[in-house]
Amino acid sequence: LNYLTPKSRQQVLELLVQGLKRLEYRGYDSTGLAIDAPSDEAGHDILMVKRTGKVKMLEDAIAEMMLTSGESGNGGLGNWDQPVDIHIGIAHTRWATHGVPSELNSHPQRSDPENSFVVVHNGIITNYKDVKTLLEKRGYVFESETDTEVIAKLVHHLWQSHPGYTFGELVEQAIQQIEGAFAIALKSKHFPGECVASRRGSPLLVGIKAKTKLATDHVPILYTKAHRPHNQAQFHLLPSSSNSSGARNVEVSAEFQPLEHKEVEYFFASDASAVIEHTNRVIYLEDDDVAAVKQDGTLSIHRVNKSSDDPHAREIITLKMEIQQIMKGNYDYFMLKEIFEQPESVVNTMRGRVRFVTQTVVLGGIKEYIPEIKRCRRLMLIACGTSYHSAVATRQLLEELTELPVMVELASDFLDRNTPIYRDDVCFFISQSGETADTLMALRYCKQRGALIVGITNTVGSSICRESHCGVHINAGPEIGVASTKAYTSQFISLVMFALVMSEDRLSLQQRRLEIIAGLSQLDAHIRTVLQLNSQVQQLAKELYKHKSLLIMGRGFNFATCLEGALKVKELTYMHSEGILAGELKHGPLALVDDEMPVLMIVMRDPVYTKCMNALQQVTSRKGRPILICEEGDAETMAFSTRSLQIPRTVDCLQGILTVIPLQLLSYHIAVLRGCDVDCPRNLAKSVTVE
Ligand code: G6P
Repeated sequence: LNYLTPKSRQQVLELLVQGLKRLEYRGYDSTGLAIDAPSDEAGHDILMVKRTGKVKMLEDAIAEMMLTSGESGNGGLGNWDQPVDIHIGIAHTRWATHGVPSELNSHPQRSDPENSFVVVHNGIITNYKDVKTLLEKRGYVFESETDTEVIAKLVHHLWQSHPGYTFGELVEQAIQQIEGAFAIALKSKHFPGECVASRRGSPLLVGIKAKTKLATDHVPILYTKAHRPHNQAQFHLLPSSSNSSGARNVEVSAEFQPLEHKEVEYFFASDASAVIEHTNRVIYLEDDDVAAVKQDGTLSIHRVNKSSDDPHAREIITLKMEIQQIMKGNYDYFMLKEIFEQPESVVNTMRGRVRFVTQTVVLGGIKEYIPEIKRCRRLMLIACGTSYHSAVATRQLLEELTELPVMVELASDFLDRNTPIYRDDVCFFISQSGETADTLMALRYCKQRGALIVGITNTVGSSICRESHCGVHINAGPEIGVASTKAYTSQFISLVMFALVMSEDRLSLQQRRLEIIAGLSQLDAHIRTVLQLNSQVQQLAKELYKHKSLLIMGRGFNFATCLEGALKVKELTYMHSEGILAGELKHGPLALVDDEMPVLMIVMRDPVYTKCMNALQQVTSRKGRPILICEEGDAETMAFSTRSLQIPRTVDCLQGILTVIPLQLLSYHIAVLRGCDVDCPRNLAKSVTVE
């Protein structure tokens, strides 16, 4: 939304496409955008372009469209490079939930063939079938299979039945009628130069780029009050939402002033990485906020029904993120860059927290809650995907240093089971994005039952951060590759630091604590050594990439590495892979072992060494040809295989940070050799904001 300097349509398109590229890791099976198009008569037509596939397809389509419209000089699409004062563009990259990836199902979705109202949406509208049925009864003809289309049509319907409503009021009305999760942005030919956005459950922020300093650090919230409908014959969508029907009685306090700035550009985005190259000043919107930008350069935030503890304003915060952090640099893929960033990212996680000179650990974000945590009944670690593996990786150490029962849970399964939760439980929610829907739902479930909520996330301002009582930012820096790498090692370290804090005053554990702190101090150097295995791992990938399957075995502190390694292989290479607990080998997986099946085994000199050696022998005696990940210089173990990757020795409970790195590299190289898209594996998304 540009009120800063006149830009041409071409520049607007470039800006939108660039933003989509930055967000592409969130979903990439189709894309689309809508901008103002010059029209013959009305002057405010909306032009939409949509494509299946990645943002590149959309970019190519736009380039071709500009070329042909330029050549033919007709179709009303000319003047691409002529500056226009005010314009609104909305764009979207989709990860299909309802309806297959297709142009029709991609966003923006529209209210009618005239594109009166167009919307982009992240999330799922759970009551869309009911809304759709009612709108169909009123003559609306749906063209897509998406849940999103109901939003555009509902707003259109409200517009027809509520003449005189502002664009913001229409959206405010509409969100009262929809259920589920959403972050939406709308544009309309009836409200040129305006854009309205709202969220519930899915993330949304407003970026503000002003030419001169803003007069304020806050944007006041305009609270509006539900009121009797001014038109009795008006639309009642669902019986259950009768309390929310009707016009708003707008109570504008005398002091209320929207943010106004003459030369300003506003951006709505679901992630800061889409706007950071333009501005680092943002507002994180809260659930049910409706933010409206108007032609005069104002931004206002509306909410319904103020309660006593609701805030008066939303704060404009300054992000610390740098654009370089979301650029690939010299690397071919973000994933490779992020793997190689680990010597620095682990240090960033510990910075200011682990004090190596005094051998102490302080976690500012949970310090005050430590006495309460120490009194708890049990610790629950709840997460999805890779974040779940970081909980598996540190469970044993947490049990050892806290002497508390530690439960490790997959968020979806935890919810399915309606797991009993008590007021004296402490629940950790681990999430790189801080937005994973299953994890967030589990958080709310536990919070409702009175448990203490601790967030461990990589995204400042994310929903999980905001809804936790306390927590740890892992500070790994933005992670763009869909397959998580550096966030995993940083989550791992965050949980280790927590265990160290919990055991601070246990005399009997001091020796162990000091050994771990010493291990942490050498971690970056050790990671650098492991990264030198890269070309050796690449060679191994050449041997393995044509196979159909890969088994990864280990136990104890390294079992999580097996699970995480297998997940990396699956998601990046589409090869079947399984992380196997070596203790379970004889209970089934051994049947898979023959002279063909690739088996990777992690055998470190830790308390389960002898047991791992048993498993190794069981594999070799079935003609298996294991590839070993073992300790540097361990000739005795290496004698069992022709292929080994040697890893520096560290403290047993930190070893998993080092053993996972060769597997990150292996999955990367296999994916490249198999021609897979490393940063955007098929069917997956970085941040899964749907249940
Ligand atoms: C998705 C991603 C995974 C990630 C998981 C949990 O499935 O593809 O890489 O581990 O979500 O994400 P979170 O942001 O909660 O850590």
